[in-house]
Amino acid sequence: MLCELAHSYGERRVSERFPIAVLVSGTGTNLQALLDTVHGRDADVVAVASSVAGAPALERAARHGVPTAVFARSGYADRGARDLALADWLAERGARLVVLAGYMELLGASFLDRFPAAVINVHPSLLPAFPGLGAIEQALAYGVKVFGVTVHFVDAGVDSGAVILQRAVELPHAREPAEVLAALRPLEHALLPQAVALIAQGALAPDPANERRIAIRSGEG
Ligand code: GRF
Repeated sequence: MLCELAHSYGERRVSERFPIAVLVSGTGTNLQALLDTVHGRDADVVAVASSVAGAPALERAARHGVPTAVFARSGYADRGARDLALADWLAERGARLVVLAGYMELLGASFLDRFPAAVINVHPSLLPAFPGLGAIEQALAYGVKVFGVTVHFVDAGVDSGAVILQRAVELPHAREPAEVLAALRPLEHALLPQAVALIAQGALAPDPANERRIAIRSGEG
């Protein structure tokens, strides 16, 4: 599956901007980083969808003239129906990559099948350590001294897809989640746009022998 992604991205003409959608639920600082860096350059943010009405991230999108929509779980019979409506809207907007940037909902197979190997997420831990909710709190409780950030492909599991980029920071004396979050924010805001740019440039090359191993074409990152 990931090999298909590298192939199709590799064929992209460099003059085209790569259409991406961003899914959010809250503050949207990672969305802001995308809007401030890759948007209008390597990629175009063509849609922002939120699971939460009134999420501040929606305001950020609107300020950049990006179409927004809310797909609240409560508005649909079940998660599958919500996922299909969301996938339809993103497809109508022409998205070729879906970026989860603080999106607090799981996406089922019906959604992932619509965007095969084209959904990525940013997570505030060095996966596979501390997947799921409360990653920073989990890491603090464990007593780690190195924290970090992962950008990865999304599969049907929880934070279990192939790793694209990771970056670590040593915080041997950290005790408070806010302190760790403050240290991780700049890493997230650098890595997520970098991953989007790499995908837009067709620079990712999954190893055919092990599709979990994502190589970055030399000179790209
Ligand atoms: C980030 O910490 C990200 O790692 C996690 O959710 C948070 C979203 O923050 N998945 P923001 O809404 O982008 O500010």
